[in-house]
Amino acid sequence: MSISIFTPCVHACSAHTVRILPKFQLWSSCSVKKFFSRVTEKVNRVQSFQPVKVHLMKSSSGARHHSATELVTAGRQYSEHGIVNPGVYHASTILYPDTETLRSQNQPFTYGRKGTPTSRALEETVAQLEGGHACRLTPSGLAAVSSVMLAFLDTGDHVLVMDNAYRPTRNLCNGLLRRMGIEVTFYDPLIGGAISGLMKPNTKLVMTESPGSQTFEIQDIPAIVAAAHAHGALVAIDNTWSAGHYFKAFKHGCDISYQAATKYLVGHSDCMMGCVTVAEAHWKRFRAAYEEMGLCAGPDDMYLTLRGIRTLDVRLERHMKSALHMAEWLRSRDEVAEVLHPGLPGAPGHDIWKRDFTGSSGLFGVVLKTSDEQAVDALLNMLTLFGMGYSWGGFESLAIPCDVTSYRTATTWDREGYLLRLHIGLEDVEDLKKDLENGFRAMAAAG
Ligand SMILES: Cc1ncc(COP(=O)(O)O)c(C=O)c1O
Repeated sequence: MSISIFTPCVHACSAHTVRILPKFQLWSSCSVKKFFSRVTEKVNRVQSFQPVKVHLMKSSSGARHHSATELVTAGRQYSEHGIVNPGVYHASTILYPDTETLRSQNQPFTYGRKGTPTSRALEETVAQLEGGHACRLTPSGLAAVSSVMLAFLDTGDHVLVMDNAYRPTRNLCNGLLRRMGIEVTFYDPLIGGAISGLMKPNTKLVMTESPGSQTFEIQDIPAIVAAAHAHGALVAIDNTWSAGHYFKAFKHGCDISYQAATKYLVGHSDCMMGCVTVAEAHWKRFRAAYEEMGLCAGPDDMYLTLRGIRTLDVRLERHMKSALHMAEWLRSRDEVAEVLHPGLPGAPGHDIWKRDFTGSSGLFGVVLKTSDEQAVDALLNMLTLFGMGYSWGGFESLAIPCDVTSYRTATTWDREGYLLRLHIGLEDVEDLKKDLENGFRAMAAAG
């Protein structure tokens, strides 16, 4: 027997207050209805007109709070019963009370895949964080990338993709997109406004990522946006590094901002999630394609992501401070040839980063003086606090070797030393330095 409970209707009465209306409808089979009608009466008596304080959030245009506050309050209009966090709705079937509603589809939630209070709470929070019109969730960050490309590209279209793209994005371009007859050109991520020269009449989309998540080039997004828009193309950005917190894509003119929410939004390395936020002008097209592809995400993962977002501001601030500290320390080490951290004065991309970003996260690159793989292996195998793993953005530190020479086509990576990618987690930096010192000693012994 399935019972559908229409939960109390939450209604915004003023900027900061939500009132639970005395509407509590429950229904299913007749006997169940009778039983629940008694419960309903009681619940209504208790809940009628009891105001629940909820901070309502406005999207970018009408933001009333600082973003740290918004991260705490956004999406909470979906909470019920005074419980701080929105409920986790596991739903496929959503029942309709009568044929009129069924035919008109005039109820807030109609089908599990199309949205629940859990997904809406997270989507609205992300849209607000990014400063875009609306957001949809995907089961992974990579699905966010593919949903953007599939939504905005048709057979015969041309897309420009940064040459430092995360490798699975390249695989998508070289595989599925090319099979679909979509033309792909990889471009130098440092091209800036000169991207105009690569535009063709059929160029519909420019993909960007700033900084690149392996070699940390900062792109001149405003210049790329100006060039793309002049040619009628849209600009999408992979905004995972800044988590949408330190780079406001829509303020810089982007049309689409997507993230591997798996990283900083989740923040605890315990689930996969993607999110795509879109400007109002392009929302209809994205939303239709998203629904046509049958995309959605799991409710428990949505809950974990929303929970992660609540602490994003403090976590990112700690990642930023610790990573900058470690980057400076590494720059002073004899073993290191170059530190690729755009937030570090003098590092590549720092000037544009300073102009466009309000902070930096915990991920950066280190070019070692050695290119001896055995010595680098000795370093990596000695580390105990830095784990070796690919998905970053969690509370833990990571160190991973990067091979960026084998697949780039528009640019060549000219550094000679071995490239490591570090993620600085929430551990104490003194412990992290000791861990790396041990590693450097092992490297010297092996080299
Ligand atoms: C910059 C960037 N974008 C997208 C992704 C894909 O995210 P996911 O692993 O959630 O599919 C990753 C994953 O490492 C990434 O680093």
